[in-house]
Amino acid sequence: MASTSKKAIMGGPVQRQLVKLQDMAKTLEASEDIQTQIQICIENVTAQEEYCDTISSPPSEAIQNLITETKKHPWQKTMDEGKVMGRVGPGMMSGALEGTFLKTLVGMSNAKRILEVGLFTGCGALAMAEALPADAKVITCELEEYVADVARKLVDQSPHGRKIDIMIGPAAESLQKLAEEGQKFDMVFVDANKDGYIDYYKIIMDNDMLTARGTILIDNALNRGQAYLPKEKLVISETWGKYSHAIRDFNDYVYNDNRVSQVMVPIRDGVMMIRRKEAFEGEA
Ligand SMILES: C[S@@+](CC[C@H](N)C(=O)[O-])C[C@H]1O[C@@H](n2cnc3c(N)ncnc32)[C@H](O)[C@@H]1O
Repeated sequence: MASTSKKAIMGGPVQRQLVKLQDMAKTLEASEDIQTQIQICIENVTAQEEYCDTISSPPSEAIQNLITETKKHPWQKTMDEGKVMGRVGPGMMSGALEGTFLKTLVGMSNAKRILEVGLFTGCGALAMAEALPADAKVITCELEEYVADVARKLVDQSPHGRKIDIMIGPAAESLQKLAEEGQKFDMVFVDANKDGYIDYYKIIMDNDMLTARGTILIDNALNRGQAYLPKEKLVISETWGKYSHAIRDFNDYVYNDNRVSQVMVPIRDGVMMIRRKEAFEGEA
């Protein structure tokens, strides 16, 4: 069986709780039996994601190389030298499994124009480009010029890289520009700063940028359980936990938007798929 990249598991609330329990069991010197059982539970929680990764078709060599290079890149040094404004690291990458998922959706939908909000090193963009016909495009937005340069070099190692156009700058500004130009997209993959999701969604929907049968895909829509945990249990941190409220607010906003229907897919950290109501329903 082909083994793809060993992707970092997006630890959900059950895994976090079990790790806490494991620490407690060690501190309290619980019996070896109990500690072994806790370890088995932790392994079971991550086994499903690892299995999905392994049993799915492996990514192309170009994507595999992009993943490897992204992991090897000296991100800490990049941040220390002030080459980027925000935090960056390989955990941002969508990865092999989600890339294959995106590629499958693009192929199934016959999409020709794709918009990505949040490029990073280009894993999702290249996966989607691989499923596109030669005359189609992925237009992708990235805030960090340095990151966009790294992505450009990586995606250009594949012949599909030429289908990818990068817009550097704050995504809200790039989206406004695309809206003013009257551009429309068959598929939109939103995967940048989570506190911008509502704005990005509004720009796309209010300016009619989604084609009639188009789909918006929202990444990290479960945000490691923060979308559904009781409010008092939310993790508020400097990293992913800083978006806890933003993701809940976004999901609620879409739920209350009567222009669309949506489905939450619990792949990796959750992908919400949103379509216009008319596109969602068939004919009687
Ligand atoms: C989670 S990563 C994207 C991962 C990528 N879609 C993939 O498939 O691997 C988020 C990216 O969004 C970028 N970003 C953050 N804030 C942004 C903004 N306001 N406008 C555009 N890009 C932004 C970050 O620099 C980062 O590269």
